[in-house]
Amino acid sequence: MNESTIKFRLMKPDDFDAVVGIDEKILKASRSEYYEQKFEKLFKSKDYLPVSLVAEEKDGTVMGFVMGELYMGEYGIFQDEASLDTIGVDPDFNHKGIGKQLINEFMDHLGKVGVQKISTLVDWNDSKLIHFFSANQFNPSKTINLERIL
Ligand SMILES: CC(C)(COP(=O)(O)OP(=O)(O)OC[C@H]1O[C@@H](n2cnc3c(N)ncnc32)[C@H](O)[C@@H]1OP(=O)(O)O)[C@@H](O)C(=O)NCCC(=O)NCCS
Repeated sequence: MNESTIKFRLMKPDDFDAVVGIDEKILKASRSEYYEQKFEKLFKSKDYLPVSLVAEEKDGTVMGFVMGELYMGEYGIFQDEASLDTIGVDPDFNHKGIGKQLINEFMDHLGKVGVQKISTLVDWNDSKLIHFFSANQFNPSKTINLERIL
């Protein structure tokens, strides 16, 4: 496998099993309910533009994915800020630049519809993921989430 055999394309509803499978391989727990809700929102909602991509090997194997949302404001006008809420690369294909390419394709795709900023949330303790985003030019935002545990 090399980079030229990898295709980046928009996610389809049929990718559900592959996405859930990769996520389960990463987290070692199934989150099919979470993805059911996400797929429902992305592919059925009129308020959100589905901005999700997969990296696919020539034989059709899905190796990774990135999912985000672009809220279409009133009158269907795109906002200039979008979110990247889930990224996953099959652990068997890590460190081949697929994650980086997914981010770049995602940015290109959103840039074309006028998005200026992409935000994401990362667990403070997930240093590997923070490092990955930082290597891909994501910087800490100037707002912080506050919470109080009950
Ligand atoms: C973070 C993640 C997306 C990275 O995917 P990836 O495809 O391995 O990413 P890349 O290959 O672009 O980059 C990873 C590292 O490999 C390195 N790399 C890239 N191409 C390489 C190559 N050809 N040879 C060796 N190393 C390479 C990069 O420099 C990077 O190193 P660094 O982290 O030290 O900077 C992936 O590990 C993942 O899915 N993690 C889990 C995320 C998660 O928790 N998801 C669920 C909740 S959102």
